Amino acid sequence: MRHGRAVVTLDHIDLTDLDRFTTGFPHHDFDVLRREAPIWWHAPTDHTPGGEGFWVLSRYDDIVAVATDSTGFSSEGGGDREGGGTTLEDMPRGSAVGSLLNMMDDPRHAKIRKQLAPSTTPRALRAMEAELAERATTIVESAIAKQDCDFLVDVAAELPLQAVARLAGVPQADRHELMNWANVILDYDDREVGETNDRLQAAHARMFTYGVELLERKRAAPGDDLLSVVTQAIIDGRPLTEHEQRLFLSLIIAAGSETTRNSIAHGMAALVERPDVWERLRADGSLLPNAVEEILRWSSSTPYNRRTATRDVDLRGRHIAAGDKVTLWWSSANRDETVFDDPHVFDIERTPNPHLSFGRGVHFCLGASLARMEIRMMFETLLDRVDRIEMSGPVEYVRSNKHTGVRHMPVRIVATH
Ligand code: HEM
Repeated sequence: MRHGRAVVTLDHIDLTDLDRFTTGFPHHDFDVLRREAPIWWHAPTDHTPGGEGFWVLSRYDDIVAVATDSTGFSSEGGGDREGGGTTLEDMPRGSAVGSLLNMMDDPRHAKIRKQLAPSTTPRALRAMEAELAERATTIVESAIAKQDCDFLVDVAAELPLQAVARLAGVPQADRHELMNWANVILDYDDREVGETNDRLQAAHARMFTYGVELLERKRAAPGDDLLSVVTQAIIDGRPLTEHEQRLFLSLIIAAGSETTRNSIAHGMAALVERPDVWERLRADGSLLPNAVEEILRWSSSTPYNRRTATRDVDLRGRHIAAGDKVTLWWSSANRDETVFDDPHVFDIERTPNPHLSFGRGVHFCLGASLARMEIRMMFETLLDRVDRIEMSGPVEYVRSNKHTGVRHMPVRIVATH
């Protein structure tokens, strides 16, 4: 296939080469995969964790079929594999696998989720709405005052972090430190998938100590926050283990801050490229909820999650064996031309827009309503107070195939007069 001057063939595709993600998500690779090899065996490469190959699913319908079959495709493991989880590298059992909510299968997963879910419904979040709106205003006002700023750091990152700290019951004063640790844990700038280093170990250790102390405080004096709910939850007659509770704190900080800020940054980048759409949104605010869905589809800030086949299965004539790693590329499903007309066009009036950015099935994102609310609020505030935003340098992406992340986005903000 021809994109600009580059010709992409299946032989050239290497989804474990993180350098290929440093200019954004490689959509052209997935155009080829959806068309030519929708159930593709990714042979092992120099970078493949454990020297193991894995299946790559790129079409919408196949991804939905696997994501909604949590018995056949586990978030923990399968076959005679020791570890597992939802990333390419196997996590050892007893660490995250089986203890972290998103790497846990039903029935335990469902029981825990049932106790946490009420704290994240749109109704529950209404209590935070006024406070978050005020925070969004402060963030945008201080970026306007700077005029030249890093949109990722100064604008996009702040509200998701403040919101998740508020939801989880983490003191706001600690939020940046927590985010820095989470950033190191998610960062592959100086390592390959599956590798560790001193920085990573130190971040894990500090997050661990912080988690132990904070959870102790919550147990002693529970509030109305999500971490307090976690410490109070009783599953099968017992509280969650200390380990499960601590992991939940790391999950919520990482899942809650990283993904949403990237969606906000990618959405803004799309709007900078399309001043006509920016103006249209400014003229008609009723388009914003629909635009938020398109920003979510467009940014697909979690590009993939992995499952492990628990039994032998044939999919489109390909044989997947029990224990095989199967990756579900939400970003690719979101550009599937059989579901979305002109999928590579950013269209804020797209309806319906059944994107899979929050996943599908029993692990559907627990923070979806919060993320939608934050994105809407940030753009509501920007559209109200900012005349236009211009790029003042190139967008720098995170070197990762697990997060479609923006590291820096230098912009000039022109305020509304
Ligand atoms: C645009 C923002 C976000 C995106 C794109 C996103 C994406 C996702 C995806 C794709 C999954 C499914 C994982 C799987 O199937 O293996 C997921 C699960 C999850 N997300 Fe999000 N997320 C976002 C925001 C948030 C926020 C704000 C929070 C926290 C408040 C959050 C917390 C979670 C949790 C706890 C799970 C695990 C749910 C379970 O296993 O039952 N996410 N997210």
